[in-house]
Amino acid sequence: MAFLSDTLARVKPSPTIAVTNKARELAAAGRDIIGLGAGEPDFDTPQNIKDAAKRAIDAGRTKYTAVDGIPELKAAICNKFLRENGLTYTPAQVTVGTGGKQILYNALMATCNPGDEVIIPAPYWVSYPDMVLLAGGTPVPVVAGIETQFKLTPAQLEAAITPKTKWFIFNSPSNPTGAGYTRAELRALCDVLMRHPQVWIMSDDMYEHLVFDDFEFCTPAEVEPGLYDRTLTCNGVSKSYAMTGWRIGYAAGPLNLIKAMGTIQSQSTSNPSSVSQYAALEALTGPQDFLAENRTLFQRRRDLVVGMLNKAEGVTCPTPEGAFYVYPDISGCIGKSTPSGVTITNDEVFASALLDDTGVAVVFGAAFGLSPNFRVSYATSDVLLAEACARIQRFCASLV
Ligand SMILES: Cc1ncc(COP(=O)(O)O)c(C=O)c1O
Repeated sequence: MAFLSDTLARVKPSPTIAVTNKARELAAAGRDIIGLGAGEPDFDTPQNIKDAAKRAIDAGRTKYTAVDGIPELKAAICNKFLRENGLTYTPAQVTVGTGGKQILYNALMATCNPGDEVIIPAPYWVSYPDMVLLAGGTPVPVVAGIETQFKLTPAQLEAAITPKTKWFIFNSPSNPTGAGYTRAELRALCDVLMRHPQVWIMSDDMYEHLVFDDFEFCTPAEVEPGLYDRTLTCNGVSKSYAMTGWRIGYAAGPLNLIKAMGTIQSQSTSNPSSVSQYAALEALTGPQDFLAENRTLFQRRRDLVVGMLNKAEGVTCPTPEGAFYVYPDISGCIGKSTPSGVTITNDEVFASALLDDTGVAVVFGAAFGLSPNFRVSYATSDVLLAEACARIQRFCASLV
């Protein structure tokens, strides 16, 4: 009898975490490493949020809570959806989990049966396909390439839908490309979804607040109220409020789905950390100036990185609407060789040679389902970004 489960055999460890670990090991061994792999803001959680957590500890709010969130936080989440997205939900339609990741996982575990298909636009956040596999469903990646700025077209969505399609996972702005769908682009996808009532929509709005220029964020249940009854609107405090380690994500949707997700959570982790819930309450109800400051900072970094990467030989870097990632295409580098004789056959070799030769850590595109590309997370200082991009330019210029 095998010790390890068949379920485990269906999934692989997160490649983004693997890159971060490798960069950390090299840095510990004394190498000069610039890590552009991690998907988290580089600055600290705002002070008012940390203070709220300390107050919660001192007030003894350190016991089990309701499995899917304290009532105050659920009420704050309802207010957030109304205030920022024009969406009306009751507290019973809201669930809070240990990060956005658990929320998505709960939803898939609560709904996927063998044979159920989940449409995932590629390039995608690395965890979507593996979470679908863990839940027993079938991921259906659909490639949205550079020619459509990494956005799925209505025709592609229509062609991917079958009678077995259970979910369509929508992520705007996107990890790994930063691409954000305009209202008109999302409207066109919603029109397709309106014609297929068996398809549910999982909208991952994690990067909602990180949008640049005049881009207006929008989400499916608001753009097409006809989809409200089959949409799970997912969000969290991790990226918006620099709270990745606190582990609070949330979602709102139809009652039966929310209840089912709570059942999964009740038999796995129970409530998310009580202290973190009070911190998230302060994040959603306290001063919001932090969000605008963040946007300005990240927009400046995006412009720096896009400008410098487009000057690297063989690299084409589109300008994304949001998040803190860019996803340059490296077609012009494939087939060339490094001075030490490594032939760049694909983006994994590119990323590995880049790390070995220059100390810059990026994640290769194959991990996200579209090659040849790599992902840069520009959630690091301007000085380090400029240095990393200069190294990438020199590396690309050295290829023959
Ligand atoms: C698109 C997307 N969704 C969800 C998550 C999960 O966020 P959390 O850290 O709250 O679990 C991430 C984190 O990288 C993400 O990029």
